Amino acid sequence: MGMESDIELINKDGTRLDGRKANELRPITIEAGVLTQAVGSAYVEWGGNKVYAGIYGPKEAHPRHKQKQTQAIIQCRYNMAPFSVNDRKRPGPDRRSTEISKVVAEALEQVLFLERFPRAAFEVQMEVVQAAAGTRCAALTAASVALADAGVPMRDLIPSCASGKVADTVILDLDQKEDNFGQADLPVAIIPRTGEVVLLQMDGDLSQKEFPVALDMAIEGCKEVYKLQREALARRYSDTSTDGGEA
Ligand code: CDP
Repeated sequence: MGMESDIELINKDGTRLDGRKANELRPITIEAGVLTQAVGSAYVEWGGNKVYAGIYGPKEAHPRHKQKQTQAIIQCRYNMAPFSVNDRKRPGPDRRSTEISKVVAEALEQVLFLERFPRAAFEVQMEVVQAAAGTRCAALTAASVALADAGVPMRDLIPSCASGKVADTVILDLDQKEDNFGQADLPVAIIPRTGEVVLLQMDGDLSQKEFPVALDMAIEGCKEVYKLQREALARRYSDTSTDGGEA
């Protein structure tokens, strides 16, 4: 983000380098129930991103001092595989993955009925196996489908999507080049039923005029992602109803 460059990110006709319009998402496919060993799971391909989410729980929270007497806690772990990026990522947690795990947990807290599971924990594991900008949005999108797949009671799904700015133009869903050489990145997540924003971060700068435009664009993107999340769960449901309930 913010690297100065001579690279032209917007074509003369207003389209982007990959041919997308300003408010167009990259191709997204979502699949629910892809892992047999987790209680619930999902897989999201989003442009060049490939992300798995797996859920364990509800189970007794460990370590015990983390338990809450009146509600469950969410233990999120976002991880990037060493081979997920061009430059080989050093395995293990780092500041960035700790931050993403935290913001994802805080978003999910807003939709789970945690008070129904005192002293319990829900474990949300997110594995980025290929990264191409926007992995936190893809991971949160996958995590909420995986939680629904696990049958965890939820108020709603959480779709997530980023907008941003490149070449002084507000655009939706930055790809890797746009992220590297752009001016701003604005990841957003919402609760569609209420319109609440449950994740909002900003890397780079947007003017006071650009910010509401970018926010609206990201929210519209989230609504499109929401549709795909629901379709994935509907497909999963119709699959299990025809094969006797086995994954
Ligand atoms: O992935 P997201 O946009 O949510 O987070 P970011 O910190 O803005 O990272 C943008 C992109 O940079 C990631 O999606 C990766 O493609 C790339 N990246 C990388 O190549 N190596 C890292 N250690 C971290 C990020």
